[in-house]
Amino acid sequence: MGIQVHEQEKRFVLETANTEYQMKVTDIGILQHLYYGRKVGGQDMSFHVIPFDRGFSGNPYELRLERGESLDTMPQEFTGSGIGDFRVSSLSVIGADGSRSCDLRYQGYQIKQTKTAIPGLPSLRQGGEAVTELHLFLADELVDLRVTLVYTVVDAKDVITRRVVVENASQDTIRLEKVSSMAIDFQYGDFDLLHYHGRHCMERQMERLPVSHDTHVVGSRRGMSSHHENPFVILCDKETNEHCGDAYGFMLVYSGNHKTEIEKNQANSTRLVMGIHDENFSWKLGGGQVFYTPEVILAYSAEGLNGLSQTYHRVIQDNICPPQFKNIQRPVLINNWEATYFDFDTQKILDIAQSASEIGIEMLVLDDGWFGKRDDDHSGLGDWFVNEQKLSGGLKVIADGVNALGMKFGLWFEPEMINEDSELFRDHPDWVLSDPGRKPMMSRNQMVLDMGNPAVVDYLFDSMSKVLSSAKIDYVKWDFNRSMANVYSTILPADQQGETAHRFILGTYDLLERLLTAFPNLMIEGCAGGGGRFDAGMLYYCPQIWTSDNTDALSRLAIQHGTSYGYPVSSMGAHVSAVPNHQTGRNISLQTRGVVAMSGTFGYELDLTRLTEAEKAVMRQQIKDYHRYYWLINRGVYTRLTNPHEDKYLTAWQFVAEDGNELLLNAVVTHLQANPIFPLLRLKGLEEAAVYQLVGSEKTFTGAALMYGGYVIKEIQGDPHDDQRGNYPAIQLHFKKI
Ligand code: GLA
Repeated sequence: MGIQVHEQEKRFVLETANTEYQMKVTDIGILQHLYYGRKVGGQDMSFHVIPFDRGFSGNPYELRLERGESLDTMPQEFTGSGIGDFRVSSLSVIGADGSRSCDLRYQGYQIKQTKTAIPGLPSLRQGGEAVTELHLFLADELVDLRVTLVYTVVDAKDVITRRVVVENASQDTIRLEKVSSMAIDFQYGDFDLLHYHGRHCMERQMERLPVSHDTHVVGSRRGMSSHHENPFVILCDKETNEHCGDAYGFMLVYSGNHKTEIEKNQANSTRLVMGIHDENFSWKLGGGQVFYTPEVILAYSAEGLNGLSQTYHRVIQDNICPPQFKNIQRPVLINNWEATYFDFDTQKILDIAQSASEIGIEMLVLDDGWFGKRDDDHSGLGDWFVNEQKLSGGLKVIADGVNALGMKFGLWFEPEMINEDSELFRDHPDWVLSDPGRKPMMSRNQMVLDMGNPAVVDYLFDSMSKVLSSAKIDYVKWDFNRSMANVYSTILPADQQGETAHRFILGTYDLLERLLTAFPNLMIEGCAGGGGRFDAGMLYYCPQIWTSDNTDALSRLAIQHGTSYGYPVSSMGAHVSAVPNHQTGRNISLQTRGVVAMSGTFGYELDLTRLTEAEKAVMRQQIKDYHRYYWLINRGVYTRLTNPHEDKYLTAWQFVAEDGNELLLNAVVTHLQANPIFPLLRLKGLEEAAVYQLVGSEKTFTGAALMYGGYVIKEIQGDPHDDQRGNYPAIQLHFKKI
């Protein structure tokens, strides 16, 4: 496993536990892509490349007599531009003389046994894994541009990562107009594309569509990875379903503008190019300067979409998220946002904390409104000092009060934003992203700070550190509540304005890095108006992200389902909120709200001081159950059993322990029925011959019966007078091997 280099034929074979990836250098130095998929035992796959003269597909000068050899039809690893490959390019460069052609040819390779970090960018952590890294050196000799393709092979995790380093080895200044992190050409296959689109309060809705003869673009130009398109896509065969078939995943480890282009060409081959969005991007690369792209995590599964997701879940948990939170139970939290919005004082928060501690909640998170002159969303962002008028005695009184109840204390920040009505804006109007002489676009009454300005990052680091040192604060919720517009930085010259959006993200990562270095045990929850920045870049710093501002349990089924294709439930913030739900107005029983929120980092977000005794009792039991199932949910293997967009009766999913010893089946009835039809669910991952007891009953089943025969759900009708069942009944069944 790892990397084999066949020197003579200049062929590279990358192998993980279950996958194989092949490339080859042609006689004129073009790096061809040969194969990615199930293992083929190292067999040279270049027999797949069949030169054929297709009209209007020209030839490199050296091959002008061999008319079948065209860059336009050849499968490649990473392309230059303007030299006769008319498909989407990986790179676009303007040379010092204005020429736009770039012809990348192979120069050599290097192999390393460790994962190289990317300066300024998050990327896969090696952890304790055995990894091998291949650096392939390409160059355009005329422009003197060196392009290194970096492949990291993580055997045991079944993933390969890719990224690119571009160096201007000349004395002249050039411009990078597009630098993708990767490209891949599948010569054969008829794929479907799965992508995760959405909107605020309805993130990551899955869409599956055929790859057709055009270019499909999945991307964001909002300065954030966005609610609207996630930087994660899947290509799969037409027959692939949740449990079987070929599927390829591509996940960008980046939180800013991104773009994935999927193009089917004249000969039915499919090219996928992924990286930073090239719109409004232009990077001035002086002589000797280097540009690093973010990384893409590639995975392949022959075991359908669930198999692919399970690979990503493990990688995110073990190799992306901060390792210090992997083996500890995340605290069950109460967040005061939907309980109070901006309307609270010290006493109200302490009352909520008191009620929370009585039912077993372990942390209170004080949301928006504790700082500056912040009584609504018109003012205060940027002024990271306590609002003493609201919170007399400061934060310490609250933090101490919460700690005295045996609970942890967390605090909300929205570091990258600023209100016009703030001391920060009055002092530093030039710290805002805004075009000279033009009134900026406003959104939620706020503007965006220029995180590419080191003075801004210093200010935020100092002011946040001061707050974090002023009391015992274990947790930060890091919000980001608008899209970026007027992307202009006052510290960059005119010819570097196209760098602003990427420099912004580098500044955000720098601030996160500096804060985590200063406060290594600080747990940061990512958030961007819910799940607007739910990506592997943020997960590198934040082990959990608020999945959506929509807390309605039924909507959450679809949101959490879509999110689960790339990201583990241990990264999805999920809370039980009040009914009628604040976003949809829907009434759903406490029992069902609990089951849905438990498949995430569990918490509550409602006014606990108004609970009835009966509600408190249900919550106490929910928290006990969550603790009981914690490791099964958070480290078990998650499998989607239904699709909330298609299934007629219910949405179901399961967690099974890796050793097959126990299983937790979850289901929520989404379509209530009279005269019901009982759905059958075939469970996964059990031992065929083992006997499992349904915990809390005398019933036993063999693994084979549950997996191949299936389990019948009979609790399909609602009963609003029955607390356990309620409307939209939820089932949580625990099977244990005996
Ligand atoms: C965003 C978050 C919410 C809450 C508010 C506060 O919308 O997603 O959870 O923190 O901001 O203003």
